[in-house]
Amino acid sequence: MNKTAGYVFTVLMIKSLALLEGVRAEPRAQIVNMTCNPQREHNTTLFVPNFIALMERISDVLRQFGWGTAVIGSGLDANYGLAQCYGDLSLTDCPLCYAEARTVLPECYPSNGGRVFLDKCFVRSGNYSFYEEYLGPNDMVVCGNASRKGSDF
Ligand SMILES: *[C@@H]1O[C@H](CO)[C@@H](O)[C@H](O)[C@H]1NC(C)=O
Ligand SMILES: *[C@@H]1O[C@H](CO)[C@@H](O)[C@H](O)[C@H]1NC(C)=O
Ligand SMILES: *[C@@H]1O[C@H](CO)[C@@H](O)[C@H](O)[C@H]1NC(C)=O
Ligand SMILES: *[C@@H]1O[C@H](CO)[C@@H](O)[C@H](O)[C@H]1NC(C)=O
Repeated sequence: MNKTAGYVFTVLMIKSLALLEGVRAEPRAQIVNMTCNPQREHNTTLFVPNFIALMERISDVLRQFGWGTAVIGSGLDANYGLAQCYGDLSLTDCPLCYAEARTVLPECYPSNGGRVFLDKCFVRSGNYSFYEEYLGPNDMVVCGNASRKGSDF
């Protein structure tokens, strides 16, 4: 398998596994913004299963609380993740939005993660603990086409 084929295969595999979760994102959430981390993942052999496990673990927590964080792996191969539904989204609709977001995030591969803003939820992953950075320049709450820094995140 050449590099491109390997890349496409991996993205498709991560996406199918997310879809197999069995949650259909209806009506489809709208992607408001997406940015991928500048660094590549460190070791594909570890990254892919870690990333999949990360998305799954976040899903479990998010179902209960409407937001969640998780860490899988360690060192250069650590995968940190955070997902949050915005305030008015019910615990029934929150997993639907997340289900959509987690099928989009793998498009960042081979970056080591990224951020996906849908109209009702947000997901971010990376190789370090970024949870304290929610006031960073790239984190924002997007309302329609106006965006503001997420002080209430
Ligand atoms: C997404 O957000 C980034 C960071 O704020 C910005 O540079 C980029 O232009 C945005 N992209 C879109 C499509 O709005
Ligand atoms: C990636 O991780 C696997 C499993 O731990 C290891 O066997 C392999 O040597 C690593 N590859 C690189 C390039 O570090
Ligand atoms: C994250 O990955 C980049 C690129 O592989 C590496 O330079 C950096 O040290 C990693 N960060 C941590 C906290 O491991
Ligand atoms: C949102 O974008 C649309 C189309 O680009 C524009 O017509 C509208 O005025 C914008 N609304 C706001 C609140 O900026």
